Amino acid sequence: MLQVEMNDEVFEAKLGERLVSVARRNAAHIGFYCDGNGLCTLCECHVLSGADQLNEPTEVEHTWLTDDRLAEGYRLGCQMSLRGIGRVRVLTRAEEMRRQLDAVLSPPAGTTALENLRPLLDNIVAMNWQHIGRWPANLVDGFQRLGLVALFWPFADLNLLISDTVRITQRLLAADSPSVAAAEQKPARPPAREAA
Ligand code: FES
Repeated sequence: MLQVEMNDEVFEAKLGERLVSVARRNAAHIGFYCDGNGLCTLCECHVLSGADQLNEPTEVEHTWLTDDRLAEGYRLGCQMSLRGIGRVRVLTRAEEMRRQLDAVLSPPAGTTALENLRPLLDNIVAMNWQHIGRWPANLVDGFQRLGLVALFWPFADLNLLISDTVRITQRLLAADSPSVAAAEQKPARPPAREAA
């Protein structure tokens, strides 16, 4: 069984599986408002190692992410899938920004809130700048791929989207609870079957 290290946790995965599916199954901290349709970019991840085990960036990613952002290792979790058996290590943008904010609110020893604010602001600016810089091509691409209705209602399974959101939120809120951590050692549901 393949393994993906996400936000410093190791999860089982399948060849061809999308990273956002691995995250949702295991309630890892990731955004997925558009339900994996390549519209919201909340599933963006920073690939820390193992990029060669993933598919090449898709047209959708090129539509949303700048070349610089892609070169820095940022990908969309709903667009990248496992193509090799080597370990992939990623930090989701949601978790990256949560940690950056945490470092501002509770600065680690030897650091100050002010100096920790810089990486967070840089991240926010880079994230928004790329979206603004890609407008309106990104929305036109979404419209052409999915149609007007899906731009506003992209959810294939609203109940699953809500239940995954609730599980992720509960896990985040209970992150310091040993009982919750132990109970979530096993995946909540089996890996999804996805085309390789
Ligand atoms: S889940 Fe919305 S862009 Fe990936």
